[in-house]
Amino acid sequence: MALVPAAGRGVRLGESKPKAFVPVGGRPMLTLAIDGLIASGVVDHIVIAAPAELIDEARFLLGHRVEPACPVPVSVVAGGAERTDSVRAGIAAAPRATHFLVHDAARALTPPSMIARVVAELKSGCPAVVPGLPVADTIKSVDADGDVTGTPDRAVLRAIQTPQGFDAQLLRDAYAAGMHATDDAGLVEAFGAHVRVIPGDPLAFKITTPLDLRLACTLLTVRDTPESADETVPAQDVAAPVDIPAASHLPAPAKPSAGPHNDSASYVRSSSNVPASSKAPSASDVPPTTDFSASTNTVTR
Ligand code: CTP
Ligand code: MG
Repeated sequence: MALVPAAGRGVRLGESKPKAFVPVGGRPMLTLAIDGLIASGVVDHIVIAAPAELIDEARFLLGHRVEPACPVPVSVVAGGAERTDSVRAGIAAAPRATHFLVHDAARALTPPSMIARVVAELKSGCPAVVPGLPVADTIKSVDADGDVTGTPDRAVLRAIQTPQGFDAQLLRDAYAAGMHATDDAGLVEAFGAHVRVIPGDPLAFKITTPLDLRLACTLLTVRDTPESADETVPAQDVAAPVDIPAASHLPAPAKPSAGPHNDSASYVRSSSNVPASSKAPSASDVPPTTDFSASTNTVTR
């Protein structure tokens, strides 16, 4: 089950319509993102959170992909004021999902092979999986006056992308706990769960600014030129998998309420000191040509 937050306004992009509806090379970001999810072969249902006033337009744009005609049914719900509100609306619309992939519509060029790698890692038993890339710039923390307060070691930092994959009950519980984070993985970290990072892909960048949009248009032109197809950067060249420990500075996670689907104990880490080498092999070992269309690799709802 994939949840696609697409209800943002796109303030930084500065176009006249909400960002997910802005065309890239002639096709709206939303359509590109949905087609990438479908092409991955690992998603069995898609729920889009769109701006309330554009639900009908979203359904129109997605045309035959909207259920019941499409083998990967797509439904559209109203998003909310914040991204977390939009994801929450998508979660509520999928009460029977066993796994969630949360994927920004704004990451319109995300390669299907990377989506499949996230799902493969999820199905290997990780409760939370996110793609990430090493950061190229030095990152500094600063105070309100602009004075530097620290320079974290760049080698241990990753810029996190989507789709982010989760055990569905874990994501429901993390949202129900009412904590705050800037991404979905941050919520489950705050909840005390183990999050694994697998190699991301530069093409999964988030289209945020006008420069990003120009880049995306250019890349799409290149991608859709037959002789230059599939120039995805090999995953093993961009980052090694790392584990994000549960946030030690946060209070102990709220105990999830008991319920028929509650298997929270299985995804909350017992220790944050488990060395990465003792983990199961990363899904980054899966070759990009692997056929993920077999039903055993499909994220079921
Ligand atoms: N999103 C959403 N609901 C919101 C805010 C964001 O569904 N209330 C979605 C966006 O549509 C996007 C993704 O979350 O697909 C990532 O958000 P971002 O890149 O910040 O998009 P916008 O919020 O639209 O852009 P901006 O912050 O510049 O306004
Ligand atoms: Mg935003």
